Amino acid sequence: MSRKKIIAGNWKMNVKPSETAALVKGVAEATKDFAGKVDIVCCTPAIDVPAAIAAAAGTQVEVGAENCHWKESGAYTGEISTGMLLDAGAKYVIIGHSERRQYFGETDETVNLRARAAIAAGLTAIVCVGETLEERDGGKLEEVILRQMNVGLKDVTAADCAKLVIAYEPVWAIGTGRTATPDQAQEVHALIRATLAKLVGAETAETVRIQYGGSMKPGNAAELLAKKDIDGGLIGGAALKAADFAGIIAAAANA
Ligand code: PGA
Repeated sequence: MSRKKIIAGNWKMNVKPSETAALVKGVAEATKDFAGKVDIVCCTPAIDVPAAIAAAAGTQVEVGAENCHWKESGAYTGEISTGMLLDAGAKYVIIGHSERRQYFGETDETVNLRARAAIAAGLTAIVCVGETLEERDGGKLEEVILRQMNVGLKDVTAADCAKLVIAYEPVWAIGTGRTATPDQAQEVHALIRATLAKLVGAETAETVRIQYGGSMKPGNAAELLAKKDIDGGLIGGAALKAADFAGIIAAAANA
């Protein structure tokens, strides 16, 4: 089964609306040669989405957001609905990033609500899972991944998987410069795919792309992307410089 690689930037809370067009255009320009070979996504703060969509128009770059709510509208101050994102032109949304779990009370249950709402609306959900260092060192890696998968993807069907990407992000590797080794990452990616197979069937599980995230850079992307179950990357820091992001996309195109 050959799965098209997907490299997505997660801008986090780092780029202003007035800075957005330059970064998106820089990415588009630097990755022209990889159009059609790799799915290229910039996930931006919600307020940057319109500027990102405008700058990405006519290019190979697609745009996503970093979170969405599960209700279509209503009294949810500060939240953004899937309908709003779609109306703006977004195609992807990150769900359940570890920073949302750590700082904003996101749980496996709310991940499930958000993921199902995003998929039902027609967005592609990038659902994040991953263990903390304490959990890994405490021998809880498998238990944590299984819980995040089983609860976070509860009632997600095989048909829904066309709009699902999973990102494995070991929390200890995010923004720390410490990357999981390709073997460490592959081991968890295989576990994620096996767990997914139990939820939606082995055939469908083979079609779902699983990204690695956590200090992925041009210098380490190739060896990670060479692994059997590593189908892309969710990129934080290195997505803020077009040249670095393009370097990772080049590695994906050649993997
Ligand atoms: P990083 O972030 O690439 O800066 O480690 C990845 C992420 O949090 O998605």
